Amino acid sequence: MSNEQPVSNSLIDSINDQPGPPRRKLLGWLVAGINLIVGGVVLGPVLGFLGSPLGRKTKGMWVPVLGLSEIQDGQTREASFTMQIKDGYALVDRKYTVFLHRSGEEVIAFDPACTHLGCRINWVGEKDRYFCPCHGGVFGKDGSVVSGPPPKPLEQHPVKVENGQIFVQKNV
Ligand code: FES
Repeated sequence: MSNEQPVSNSLIDSINDQPGPPRRKLLGWLVAGINLIVGGVVLGPVLGFLGSPLGRKTKGMWVPVLGLSEIQDGQTREASFTMQIKDGYALVDRKYTVFLHRSGEEVIAFDPACTHLGCRINWVGEKDRYFCPCHGGVFGKDGSVVSGPPPKPLEQHPVKVENGQIFVQKNV
């Protein structure tokens, strides 16, 4: 004969109703903490970059580059200008160049960087073309690709003419 007594159902129910062991809660907090650390490691540098001067997008500035009378109708010519820009946390003067083409009262400005790998293009007036010295890219006077490896036309900068002065908008 056994001395064991049957366990009552109410005792089993009361054990099942007990909250989970504290170990489970601890694991939950541990996983949440690890997620926070991993999120911080991943997002920290991204947020830091976005907040840095390099990651900050600045508005384009209108810069006077040439008097309208200094370029004849139908002419293409180079114009240089200096802008003060932020380099890290210092203000420095930087020289830029654009190619201007005048057609009547309208002026267009091309960036001198070749759209292939960024070499500086040259304007050759006798041929009415821009030539890239690096890999033979050729652009028409409207900036379109004539031949060579450049994948797209020359980049244009917005231009306005006010009181006989040509302004180019340049992002810094
Ligand atoms: S950089 Fe101009 S053609 Fe390659």
